[in-house]
Amino acid sequence: MEKRQKLPGHVGIIMDGNGRWAQERGLSRSLGHKAGSENLKSLCTHIFDLGIPILSVFAFSTENFKRDAAEVQYLMQLFVKMFEKEFTFLKEKDVRVLFSGRRENLPKEVLRVMDRLVEETANGSNGIFHICLNYGGQTEILDLCRKISEKVEAKEISSKDIDFSLVRANLYQDLPDLDLVIRTSGEQRISNFMLYQSAYAEYYFPKVYFPDFDAEQFDLAIEEFQKRTRKFGGTK
Ligand code: FPP
Repeated sequence: MEKRQKLPGHVGIIMDGNGRWAQERGLSRSLGHKAGSENLKSLCTHIFDLGIPILSVFAFSTENFKRDAAEVQYLMQLFVKMFEKEFTFLKEKDVRVLFSGRRENLPKEVLRVMDRLVEETANGSNGIFHICLNYGGQTEILDLCRKISEKVEAKEISSKDIDFSLVRANLYQDLPDLDLVIRTSGEQRISNFMLYQSAYAEYYFPKVYFPDFDAEQFDLAIEEFQKRTRKFGGTK
């Protein structure tokens, strides 16, 4: 891989296949999520060391609450452990953590460790690790419509002031668009992940399950990205 050349500025990962990874090994789905979380930690180190400035991951969708209660509970406990202990290395790496999603329905303990991680990494200037949790892309657009219409109703702005910069500023986070979206496990769907921000993203669908999507696999995704010609609706 030509490391310094044509690196994506913003990569998104839909971390799919934890459950299947575990089931194929005769393990519980929870152990698949644990393996996924360990992989995410080492992948983060690799990605920020490469010099990629923004990484977004889909940790939990609004629809994931439909899963078995024990699995949801395990995931919530795993988030607490990761945000409280395992991700503190991001402070030393000077990486800022941001979250997107609705706060409602998340346990208080999860919200507490999320807020603390955001606060403790707020000055990070070496990259952004953006975690989508209790997130849905359509819900983000709906929440944006509500926020903007409230401003119009309050006469803070008029409808003529609504432009792309105002829209972007009212998404959950004001981040540049995604350049590359990776979904592991062979599924070829976007599943409500950062719909607005992925308008011109390149997509990559490796067959491996997320726990096996390691640094070497990530480099293959970057190599593929470097071969793509991006036209953004133009001709070149
Ligand atoms: C999808 O695989 C994965 C999830 C719903 C959870 C992703 C969570 C992690 C990787 C844990 C760590 C994350 C953070 C941010 C600390 P699946 O369960 O749908 O797999 P399957 O399709 O094979 O069943």
